[in-house]
Amino acid sequence: MSNYRPIDNRYDSMKYNRCGRSGLKLPAISLGLWHNFGGVDEIENCRAILWRAFDLGITHFDLANNYGPPPGSAEENFGRILHEDFASSRDELIISSKAGYLMWPGPYGDWGTRKYLIASLDQSLKRMGLDYVDIFYHHRPDPETPLEETMGALDQIVRSGKALYAGVSNYPHELTRQAQQILKRLGTPCIIHQPVYNMFNRWVENGLLQTLREEGIGCIPFSPLAQGLLTNRYLSGITPDSRAGKPHGFLRPHQITDEKLGKVRRLNDLAQKRGQSLAQMSLAWVLRCPEITSALIGASTVAQLEDAVGTLKNVSFTNEEFQSIENILA
Ligand SMILES: NC(=O)c1ccc[n+]([C@@H]2O[C@H](COP(=O)([O-])OP(=O)(O)OC[C@H]3O[C@@H](n4cnc5c(N)ncnc54)[C@H](OP(=O)(O)O)[C@@H]3O)[C@@H](O)[C@H]2O)c1
Repeated sequence: MSNYRPIDNRYDSMKYNRCGRSGLKLPAISLGLWHNFGGVDEIENCRAILWRAFDLGITHFDLANNYGPPPGSAEENFGRILHEDFASSRDELIISSKAGYLMWPGPYGDWGTRKYLIASLDQSLKRMGLDYVDIFYHHRPDPETPLEETMGALDQIVRSGKALYAGVSNYPHELTRQAQQILKRLGTPCIIHQPVYNMFNRWVENGLLQTLREEGIGCIPFSPLAQGLLTNRYLSGITPDSRAGKPHGFLRPHQITDEKLGKVRRLNDLAQKRGQSLAQMSLAWVLRCPEITSALIGASTVAQLEDAVGTLKNVSFTNEEFQSIENILA
């Protein structure tokens, strides 16, 4: 018997945005389980973050076959908590998974073949104890497999009922357009794209956002906080409990350069003048684009999650503030 009862007013303050031209709405802030939810992490902390997220109106949780470490363990932990605490809330949740990176040895456990995508989703469903995911993504482009085969696999997955919607991640803009043409022809349009986007990585501004707008595809940028760099996390050094301080963290200490920290300090001053944390200003900056459906954050504590959701109290910028950010990033 679970100790968790979702609070009644959980939908009162979150904003829900339509995902491209689909009918699906996603919360302005979504939670990803790439880090902090694996076999190496404390399950009770994972549970506390998920409870608080749902109480704050976060209905969308993003996973992938390989999240952990070890790979697969984030889906296992999520599945366990889902069944213990969210058993009666499945229809209030949007759960996504992906395949596209190395998951098992041999020629069928990586990239974008029909063989890999369908087998991998079956494994993900088993790990999470689910009949279907809401969104299934191809995680990255495959230079060898014909696009028709990969998109055909997404279409087959949706038709089989194992996913409700199809998405792509890390696809450049021209390939996204081609993928959408194939998927539309098949009758299963791509409704969402998951690219990296934050103040330090603005590649989506060179064509992708325009393509998404034209094709009616929603956008859920990952690492909007640049894995923690665009927060106050590293202003006084690298602590062992931070992503850069952990041996398995994807953010490595050499990426936290003096040049970046100089910019982070100036951005932090600006955020304080706006009465926000730097994390909040960084998320507001991503959410300023009309193409953005939801900012996909990570969190290692309940306090970080609450800070992120607090962003929604102020997502507007003056022209002077925009210009100051451009000057700092230049
Ligand atoms: N499609 C893809 O290829 C791809 C790739 C990467 C990620 N993703 C998805 O995107 C999700 C988010 O990625 P991400 O975790 O890199 O996002 P992020 O939001 O840029 O970084 C999250 C990290 O920032 C720090 N943080 C968060 N809120 C904070 C706050 N309020 N104050 C101070 N520090 C804060 C925490 O670091 P500490 O852990 O150090 O506390 C947290 O783990 C992933 O879980 C995954 O679902 C997808």
